[in-house]
Amino acid sequence: MNAATPTPLTAHPGRPLSGRVRVPGDKSISHRALIFGALTVGETRITGLLEGEDVLNTGKAMRMLGASVEHLGEGAWSVHGVGVAGFAEPADKLDLGNSGTGCRLVLGAVAGSPITATFDGDASLRKRPMRRVLDPLTRMGAKIISAAENGGLPVTLQGARDPIPIVYESPVPSAQLKSAVLLAGLSAPGETVVIEEEATRDHTERMLKHFGAHVRVEKHGTHGRRISLAGQPELEPAPVAVPADPSSAAFPLVAALVVPGSDVIVEGVMTNPLRAGLLTTLREMGASIEILATRNEGGEEVTDLRVRAGILRGVDVPAERAPTMIDEYPILAVAAAFAQGTTRMRGLKELRVKESDRLSATAEMLRVNGVEVEIDGDDLIVEGKGRVRGGGVVATHMDHRMAMSALIIGLASEQPVGADDTAFIATSFPSFVPMMRQLGADFA
Ligand code: S3P
Repeated sequence: MNAATPTPLTAHPGRPLSGRVRVPGDKSISHRALIFGALTVGETRITGLLEGEDVLNTGKAMRMLGASVEHLGEGAWSVHGVGVAGFAEPADKLDLGNSGTGCRLVLGAVAGSPITATFDGDASLRKRPMRRVLDPLTRMGAKIISAAENGGLPVTLQGARDPIPIVYESPVPSAQLKSAVLLAGLSAPGETVVIEEEATRDHTERMLKHFGAHVRVEKHGTHGRRISLAGQPELEPAPVAVPADPSSAAFPLVAALVVPGSDVIVEGVMTNPLRAGLLTTLREMGASIEILATRNEGGEEVTDLRVRAGILRGVDVPAERAPTMIDEYPILAVAAAFAQGTTRMRGLKELRVKESDRLSATAEMLRVNGVEVEIDGDDLIVEGKGRVRGGGVVATHMDHRMAMSALIIGLASEQPVGADDTAFIATSFPSFVPMMRQLGADFA
């Protein structure tokens, strides 16, 4: 399936879901494994890489910047890196497709190399804010040669010949922004510091350490962190085993909770506390989620979870939890619609700048299916009635998570639910439709 061809699909309510599944590799870690591998001198072997379009585009970008990126077998890749600041100038523009993560991280890596590159993406990525990363990167010495009127893609960036280390206080809780600054900081002499008021996913910090860089992580305020990176390290190749993506696991998990009679095991769900906000919230809603086994995979704790359908209740989700489940709100809103009572999800400003404006897209998705929903400032309020009428066709706005969420509603609603385009699911979870069918989902 290719994101260029619109693919409508309808989910029909039917039998309970049952079985055992493992979702593909984590998207955040997969992007980083390719990028850090490319900045390392020598060979990095990756297993469990997510072979979704977003990550494959990052792999292509690394190749265009001079690294050798080879597919060895399912999920198995080999990257021969060029070393920190060793990128070659690409012959053509770098097309990051639908991916904000790929684009912003590669912008950071290029900003620390003495080359010029043009970045572009699809219509969704062209709408997304890039100033947030370009601002600190220009402070570090990179130059914007050109950008679109909204400050976004296409952007031509000239990397810094002599990057300047900075102390950066991030104005938004964004792991992409933090990572872009740290990637540029790799080629700066001295210490680059990122201060975040709210801790965001820490895969970049973990992977920097894994590849031998000196990184110090300290607490900052109540919920924040201060990350200090010693510049100009020689990154050492190290194997990366990518654990399963909790943001993808969220879809079969919630499906099993809301489709009556379901009993599903989802294997290897990463429980990194900066990614686990959905599990905390679902438990508060009364979800039956049993931990069957816990182990370590690729430096992350993972668990096999058994999920059984049951009655959920509405909850208040605090704003400070948002960074730990930022990609899970559309599917949490689905769970909230099937719950009894009101769910208020607070502090969702960042949802407006995802692959789509997910705050309004999520409200609209529920509304067309007969759910009472309201946006109050940056909060989303869903009135759960324990049942959903369905019968709507959801506008997915080139957004994979909207498409998957829409299809999950239709498995448990009274009438079928359509998604206008499911092609973008291939960006993050190419096996979503067959995997859900294997559990018993009726998609037609
Ligand atoms: C990601 C960070 C988050 C998240 C995205 C992946 C990452 O974006 O939404 O899917 O890998 O760093 P922001 O940094 O914009 O919050």
